[in-house]
Amino acid sequence: MEEGGAQRAEDATPGILKDIDRMIDVVNRGWELLSTGRRAEKVRVAISNLVDQENDTDLVMDVLLTRRKSKGKFTDWERLYFTSSGLRWATPGVAAEHCARRMECGRIADLACGQGGQIIAFSRRCSEVVAIDKDPVNLFIAHLNCIAVGADNVDLICGDSLSEAVSDRVGDADHAFCDPARPPGSEERTLSELLPDPRKILERYSDRVKGLCFEVPPYLSLDKIPFPCEAEYVSIDGRVNRLNLYTGDLARSASSAVVLPGGERLSGEARSLGPGRVDPVEVGSYLHELDPAVVKAGLVWKALGGKDSPDLIALDRRRTMLSSEEDVVSPFFRGTYRYMGSAEDISTMIEMLNERGVGSVTLRWKMDPSDYWPVRNSIESKLKGKGKVQIFRYEDRYLIAEKVRPIHIKDGR
Ligand SMILES: C[S@@+](CC[C@H](N)C(=O)[O-])C[C@H]1O[C@@H](n2cnc3c(N)ncnc32)[C@H](O)[C@@H]1O
Repeated sequence: MEEGGAQRAEDATPGILKDIDRMIDVVNRGWELLSTGRRAEKVRVAISNLVDQENDTDLVMDVLLTRRKSKGKFTDWERLYFTSSGLRWATPGVAAEHCARRMECGRIADLACGQGGQIIAFSRRCSEVVAIDKDPVNLFIAHLNCIAVGADNVDLICGDSLSEAVSDRVGDADHAFCDPARPPGSEERTLSELLPDPRKILERYSDRVKGLCFEVPPYLSLDKIPFPCEAEYVSIDGRVNRLNLYTGDLARSASSAVVLPGGERLSGEARSLGPGRVDPVEVGSYLHELDPAVVKAGLVWKALGGKDSPDLIALDRRRTMLSSEEDVVSPFFRGTYRYMGSAEDISTMIEMLNERGVGSVTLRWKMDPSDYWPVRNSIESKLKGKGKVQIFRYEDRYLIAEKVRPIHIKDGR
């Protein structure tokens, strides 16, 4: 293939990957065997008898063994295809659907489509999808996924999105989406590490489309983003999952937060609130753990109805609590707890827990994972009751609290 050129998916793939029907048959056979309880080694032998090359067997086995793991990301996982690395980078179904709803249009381009997590959702909301990836294997798997969900409005192109050949093929799309590849384990998360680099994509496509969305790592600092955009933090089940940067006609406000799966949304100017220091002895009867997407978006003030100096407790980088006397129900709280008191050391805490009939504790402060169970077991070995509590750390005290509602229960049940 010509450097930077654009090829159709089926022309760019080697081995079994050339024959999509055969790949589907072989995966179906393997899945049938696995689903009826056949051990992976036996399935591997059966697959190797159906394909010509060892690396084709590896690929099929990877797809088969990854399928069960995709259950947490996709509702229709049983019919989808991902390799282990493709699944790791795939946009989860609920986030893909949210993005597709926001970007709904006639013709959409996915400029780094990977194995197709996002294009499945686009194909349901847009009339035409043009999907590009420079990796032929990823593109082949994306093609399998389009067939699996009956998406017949997707044009798959193997090539470099930054090349003229590809941008010419994209043509006059309404919107474009780009979820760039990122180096695993990188802490710094700068734009220049992302492939393709969003700044280069903007250069090539901003005059061609009305708006773009970049899906970037949520820990990327906003002051490293040199173009005007709406920064939308998305959480799934109370954890920050992604940061979407919308440009052009897709940008509707400076900052926003969306909590999935419910889809509740806040938008406005990001404001830093303090936090208002709360003395542990003055903590109110309830503690509400704010959804981290709302905190990262600087929209806590909005979640609290415009209140400028709420009783906020910043426990650590990931956890911010609101203290209140009354119970409050909000989709923007990932949990609500009844506050039971605080202790300045572990032995006082154990006394308090025994007075309250507690037998089990969940430790909710940042610690080395290898310390978690030794510390918890040591506390629980001294407890005599049956109740369950959560222990948070705030400054040098332990806050004891009982769960009232888990994440995203809206009506107080
Ligand atoms: C994070 S993955 C995309 C995952 C996708 N959103 C999904 O839901 O499956 C990033 C993809 O960008 C592709 N890529 C990197 N640089 C590219 C470029 N210049 N042109 C096209 N694709 C590129 C990689 O091959 C990789 O498949």
